Amino acid sequence: MNKQFYITTAIDYVNGQPHLGHAYEKIITDVIARSQCCLGSESFYLTGLDEHGQKVQQAAEDNGQNAQDYCNNLAEDWQAFAAKLGLSNGDFVRTTEERHKTVVAEILQGLYDKGEFYQKEYVGFYSAKQESFLTEKDRNDNGEFDPIYGEVQELRENNYYFKLGQYQQWLIEHIEANPNFVAPDNRRNEVLGFLKNENLEDLCISRPKERLSWGIPLPFDSDYVTYVWFDALTNYLSIPRAIGRESELWPADIHVIGKDILKFHAVYWPIMLRAANLEIPKQILVHGWWQKDNQKMSKSTGNVVDPVAVIDEWGLDAFRYYVVRELDIGPDGNWTDEGFAARYGAELANGLGNLINRSLSMLGRYRDGVVPEAHDELAHDATVARDKLVEQLRANELQAGLMTIWSYIARLNQYVDETAPFKMAKDPNQAKRLGEVLYNLTESCRLLAVWLQPYLPTTSHRIMEQLNLPKDIINIAQSGWGELTAGQKVNKPEALFPRRDK
Ligand code: ME8
Ligand code: MG
Repeated sequence: MNKQFYITTAIDYVNGQPHLGHAYEKIITDVIARSQCCLGSESFYLTGLDEHGQKVQQAAEDNGQNAQDYCNNLAEDWQAFAAKLGLSNGDFVRTTEERHKTVVAEILQGLYDKGEFYQKEYVGFYSAKQESFLTEKDRNDNGEFDPIYGEVQELRENNYYFKLGQYQQWLIEHIEANPNFVAPDNRRNEVLGFLKNENLEDLCISRPKERLSWGIPLPFDSDYVTYVWFDALTNYLSIPRAIGRESELWPADIHVIGKDILKFHAVYWPIMLRAANLEIPKQILVHGWWQKDNQKMSKSTGNVVDPVAVIDEWGLDAFRYYVVRELDIGPDGNWTDEGFAARYGAELANGLGNLINRSLSMLGRYRDGVVPEAHDELAHDATVARDKLVEQLRANELQAGLMTIWSYIARLNQYVDETAPFKMAKDPNQAKRLGEVLYNLTESCRLLAVWLQPYLPTTSHRIMEQLNLPKDIINIAQSGWGELTAGQKVNKPEALFPRRDK
């Protein structure tokens, strides 16, 4: 069966409302998924929710609800959020669904039968907040556990452990032989440094039911539930298997994640798969974290960006544009309301919006909206920009891709100023030249709509509508200069990004 491009996001804990960080991850993943479609390969995009474990159980209790009801209520908000972001996801996983739980149990049973797990008694410290067992290494210089662990308790309990150590050397060799397995490079080095300098401790994959009930029961011992990370990571495989498309989709092409969950994805997950004799994903693509006004976003201080409020005020594509243009995939970013408004004004309203608007207005005014005969004055510049964009999209250089598109927009705005069609229009001797300029501008508007498909799908459609052209997906690499034909009658332009001057 033909392999289809398969991309995922992390699945979010349902212990609150979605924020900017969640929105960012879903949008960059969407741009990559859509890029694949616009470059000729179909793609499958999976996102969803991580509903089990201590954090969610605790949040439900704090809300006086039973865990499943609590998740069901919030899941509606999160699914609406995915729609609000205009995501092209083909499915939405919830880890409390039977289809997911069945596959988790299957994998656990397989590993158990293979002898990958053993039981032992643990005596030591446990952080409920981080859902992890702590070691002496986790103490800071004055002997205390870091506040990120919350209240730390001493525990003595029996659990199941997964033998990771035997796969450590294999993983190091895999990462060394596959330089793109973890991207960007600094994250790859981080994983390699960790694997080469520390012996992997065995992973505790169970929690006793009396301490934590909100989880998937271990299929081989009903006194325990599954460690939430073992459960959550498996979503990437459980859904393809549950919908009968494992052979088409697996291994995943890209798992998009934030920097804080790198070890789970680049160490535990590949080892889980390897131990289960399954193929491992081709790439873990790691993005940085957003702050607001140079400070950690936090509900308690009110320092948050509410993506839904921004979208309601400024429009979805303005939001998608800002997050992708502002922050490359890798480094940390900083949101400021002023920065957002500045990019909106300069790059969307005055840059793209104004260009489309004046190009189509002039065509309406001077040629009754009818596309003149083809001309190729800008063909070379457009082709160079297109080829560069295609390369950048293939390399997941999304921010750079936007810069390529906007350089071409700048070139076009300059072209209007240089050629001054509004002056030519007053001189009947220049009618032919005016037609050439108008063709160059209108054909450029069409190409911009094609190039913007993965980034700003709604805007791309609106431009196509104004051009009176069909809105089917167009292959970016294959759509070239001159496809706009003379005689095409365009519609009246409408402002894409109205100015918001204060
Ligand atoms: O970690 N900026 O869920 P989560 C950018 N359920 N990204 C951010 C961010 C910020 N300020 N805050 C969070 C979990 N993220 C697990 C994942 S995957 C099998 C299980 C990102 O809701 C974060 O890095 O805490 C992660 O990739 C995603 O949001 C979900 O975080
Ligand atoms: Mg988190």
